[in-house]
Amino acid sequence: MDVLKLAFLVARVVVKVVARNFVKQPPIMVASKLVLLPLVGGATWYGLHYASEPVHKVLITTTFSVALNIAFLPVVGAVLWFGLHHAIQPVYKVHNAGGVVITGASSGIGKDAAVSLARKGYMVYAGVRKQTDAEALEKLGIASLKPVVGCDVTKQDTINEAVKFVEKDLSGRPLVALVNNAGISKNAPIELMDVDRDAKASFDVNYSGVVRATKAFLPLLRKTGEGARIVQISSVSGLLVQPDMEPYGGAKWALESMSGALRREVSRWKISVSVINPGMVKTDIFGKGKEHRKDLGNKDPTGLYKHLLNAAADNQMLDACERADMPQVTTDAIEHAITSPTPQVRYVCANIAGVPANHWYWLQWLLPDRLMDKVSGPLFFLY
Ligand SMILES: NC(=O)c1ccc[n+]([C@@H]2O[C@H](COP(=O)([O-])OP(=O)(O)OC[C@H]3O[C@@H](n4cnc5c(N)ncnc54)[C@H](OP(=O)(O)O)[C@@H]3O)[C@@H](O)[C@H]2O)c1
Repeated sequence: MDVLKLAFLVARVVVKVVARNFVKQPPIMVASKLVLLPLVGGATWYGLHYASEPVHKVLITTTFSVALNIAFLPVVGAVLWFGLHHAIQPVYKVHNAGGVVITGASSGIGKDAAVSLARKGYMVYAGVRKQTDAEALEKLGIASLKPVVGCDVTKQDTINEAVKFVEKDLSGRPLVALVNNAGISKNAPIELMDVDRDAKASFDVNYSGVVRATKAFLPLLRKTGEGARIVQISSVSGLLVQPDMEPYGGAKWALESMSGALRREVSRWKISVSVINPGMVKTDIFGKGKEHRKDLGNKDPTGLYKHLLNAAADNQMLDACERADMPQVTTDAIEHAITSPTPQVRYVCANIAGVPANHWYWLQWLLPDRLMDKVSGPLFFLY
């Protein structure tokens, strides 16, 4: 790892020295020439070497060598890619004790992670909106799991109250991590979307809510300093384009952009930012959207969108929900992002319709947009 870093450093110095003192050209031009130099040299050597050989022998040898190079190119590329990846992976300080704040921890992914992290010895502050949810958490009898009642990510004052409560309760111990988990999902085909109600609500919770909580807890995380963590619960919908998945997908794509910016902004304090992109996880989120789906039928009396809104699509969705992973997969990713010295930037986990979510992610990356347009309906179990 250090050798690679050193080689990179030496190459940069060489390019800069040559650029400034000898050729007086911008470093990028010098670098590209230095890269070309061995290629030109190799080609010249090859030409001279074979100049006296019979043509058929040169053709056979050249074809063989080109084929060999093409075969090895992906291997060499992969080795270089992984080498670079490891060379630039920052190593973070690990805090084995201290506080972890999780928003939206009344159920599902947030609750599972809260219970697990509390059992591992962290002081977990579980944000919930309702008193009954706080009582349900208290009933679990885990001393290090503390509900923070009334924490609504759409209301800055309730988040500020949560910050005060956490700071007082920690009384000098570090706040290790903030897990921005609270989220809602109410989707519709674009033409049927209620922009003022659903798009506003979705962005208010899934995007602005994360910004509010992050802004409020950052001073405490910065006080912890090196090794503090921010974990964003996005979705694979923040990476894939899926029909009938707006405004949820849009808000999660916005969260991706915000998380990338945040990662770069807070890196100077050695605070890590990781994003979790789950496929489908068995939680209440699908049930909560049922009434909303029923409403959509009423907005489309002539059945314009019956290719998306029909019993077969609903059944396929139900089947995919059945095959969803348990929240343990997201808890594992969240815990890795908080406890590993080398947290990943992104964790794509769980499945969609039985297929690992990261396969869908790679598929979208590989396929041209127009081809993805053709296959995305059947792929995402719609029409
Ligand atoms: N389940 C999946 O398949 C899946 C896949 C990808 C991503 N995700 C993401 O995972 C996160 C957790 O979802 P989940 O599946 O665990 O669903 P869930 O069981 O419905 O949990 C959502 C949590 O967010 C809370 N919440 C909603 N609006 C809030 C607000 N304004 N302020 C504070 N908390 C609020 C809910 O609290 P209340 O109980 O008070 O409503 C609940 O605790 C979400 O960000 C979701 O987008 C889920």
